[in-house]
Amino acid sequence: MATISNFPPLKNKIAFITGASRGIGQACAIALARAGAHCILSARTKSGLLQTDNLIRQVGQTSTLFPFDLQPKNPFDNTIDLIGPSIAQQFQRLDIFIHAAFHYVPLTPVTQITDKEWSKNLSINLTGCMKLIRTLSPLLCATPNSYAFFLQNLVEPEPFWGLVSSIQSAIHNLVQCWAKEIQHLSTVQVQTITLPPTDTNLRRFFFPAENKEKLNSPEETTKLILALILKN
Ligand SMILES: NC(=O)c1ccc[n+]([C@@H]2O[C@H](COP(=O)([O-])OP(=O)(O)OC[C@H]3O[C@@H](n4cnc5c(N)ncnc54)[C@H](OP(=O)(O)O)[C@@H]3O)[C@@H](O)[C@H]2O)c1
Repeated sequence: MATISNFPPLKNKIAFITGASRGIGQACAIALARAGAHCILSARTKSGLLQTDNLIRQVGQTSTLFPFDLQPKNPFDNTIDLIGPSIAQQFQRLDIFIHAAFHYVPLTPVTQITDKEWSKNLSINLTGCMKLIRTLSPLLCATPNSYAFFLQNLVEPEPFWGLVSSIQSAIHNLVQCWAKEIQHLSTVQVQTITLPPTDTNLRRFFFPAENKEKLNSPEETTKLILALILKN
């Protein structure tokens, strides 16, 4: 419960959000900032990050921009490995990690998945997630009562969803393994969170003809995520 001494509730907390240039990641960053956290915003599109930063200023906070492509530029590109140490050096803590970045391509039969798309999806979504966990885990574990949330759209194995479904399941398993490895060593609360249908670019991409009125707004979905943090 918030009292005078800990208001706003996330005052002095540091949050790192991927996918912060739009959609649910952007809405999470704004909500976290409104609750007092300093947000480190990551995605590729600088204009989107600047827009998020602007919206965060409107709630009276500042943020740190971290434009970043989860797709490595070449096999020797180790920029992602420097994220954890950089945050540690600048902020000495990481209270909240929200992984909302996701690369997606049109649905396709398994027999028509190209090598290029398969590799790109694995690289950005699965390898990217593994490397983010690897670089952030020491700092998350060293910060008392931290959170690591992985936003998911776990889809049943249905026709044409082979690529998305395989990757989401693999991310889920990867995250659960890590959670079990650190559960006795730290107080990090690790969760893969399956979200309700939400009106974002991703949803419009996969379901272009859908009635948007039945969808959550990113802000409504974000309330569900924030509630998991603010309840403690
Ligand atoms: N919308 C839904 O109904 C729904 C439901 C359940 C779960 N989810 C999950 O929620 C998460 C957020 O989705 P959303 O609906 O908010 O989608 P969105 O609006 O399309 O946002 C996707 C984010 O991923 C970032 N991204 C994509 N490729 C990237 C790359 N190579 N490197 C770094 N960042 C990259 C994008 O930023 P840039 O393009 O600027 O890089 C963007 O900020 C996803 O994991 C999704 O599976 C969504």
